[in-house]
Amino acid sequence: PKKIVVDCDPGLDDAIAILLAAGNPDVEIVAITTVAGNQTIEKVTLNARQVCTLAGLRGVPVAAGAAGPLVRDQTLAAEIHGDTGMDGPAFIPPAMETDPRHAVDLIIETVLAHPGEITLVPTAPLTNIALALRREPRIAELVKEVVLMGGSYTRGNITPAAEFNIHADPEAAAVVFSAGWPLTMVGLDLTAQAAATPELLSRIGALGTSVSRFVVDLLDHYNANVGKVHGAMATIHDACAVGRAIDPSLMEVTPAHVEVELRGTATYGMTVTDFRGRSGPANTSVATKLHTERLWDLLISSLETIAAA
Ligand code: BDR
Ligand code: CA
Repeated sequence: PKKIVVDCDPGLDDAIAILLAAGNPDVEIVAITTVAGNQTIEKVTLNARQVCTLAGLRGVPVAAGAAGPLVRDQTLAAEIHGDTGMDGPAFIPPAMETDPRHAVDLIIETVLAHPGEITLVPTAPLTNIALALRREPRIAELVKEVVLMGGSYTRGNITPAAEFNIHADPEAAAVVFSAGWPLTMVGLDLTAQAAATPELLSRIGALGTSVSRFVVDLLDHYNANVGKVHGAMATIHDACAVGRAIDPSLMEVTPAHVEVELRGTATYGMTVTDFRGRSGPANTSVATKLHTERLWDLLISSLETIAAA
């Protein structure tokens, strides 16, 4: 299986992303690292440990990383993910401690230990990834690839121009997009095709297991909050990035030059995407079209595998 490191901020959709990876035979989660984003570093790390416990990921280290962005003031997403960062399902007493290493150290160690083999899957603000690049620039050559959830080429969700993970730490995102490594951007244009529809919820609910109950409780809450804030159905953003890492053919991508806007007042944190290549050579594979049913089939089969373990 492909070795992946999930750098996340659970986060309702981050939780689904972890479960999707945990139950899939084609990927092996070698580490989970956390970063402040949807909620504080303490809360998202506790949530990651709960999800790992539910998924049976006992031997996988969970390490906490950056408590805030590099330059800008911190923003959280409590209105979507709640006060705990994972409101909805019942609390799961974690079966493992937080790893004593800093997330940035664990990311670097893991990449150096498996040269050319690690796929980084960031589903959160890019603070840890930028810090890891600065601390050990060789990781840019030594990772297999980076598949991140963040950005968009049409519209934002936090501002008209910017998506949350990029807007929460634009300077870090700028480091990550300019690192010259193989990078796939799974942004809002793609994840808009992964709505948590009533059909999906009833398919998951029909599994009738404790893990499916957790996911349904979580998605009910997610849908309710996104309905209140955006007047729309929730989309399971972060699972799309894991889906791409599992099976690249789940989505279509187009190469483009992507630059993160750091100086605009209305556009701070925008991923300015040039499909024409006029502003520079392509540095990103930009995900455009999702084979939605195939992603949900993978999710269902992961949830079945976890329940059977
Ligand atoms: C991203 O922002 C977070 O709230 C979600 O977990 C996802 O990673 C979507 O914009
Ligand atoms: Ca996230």
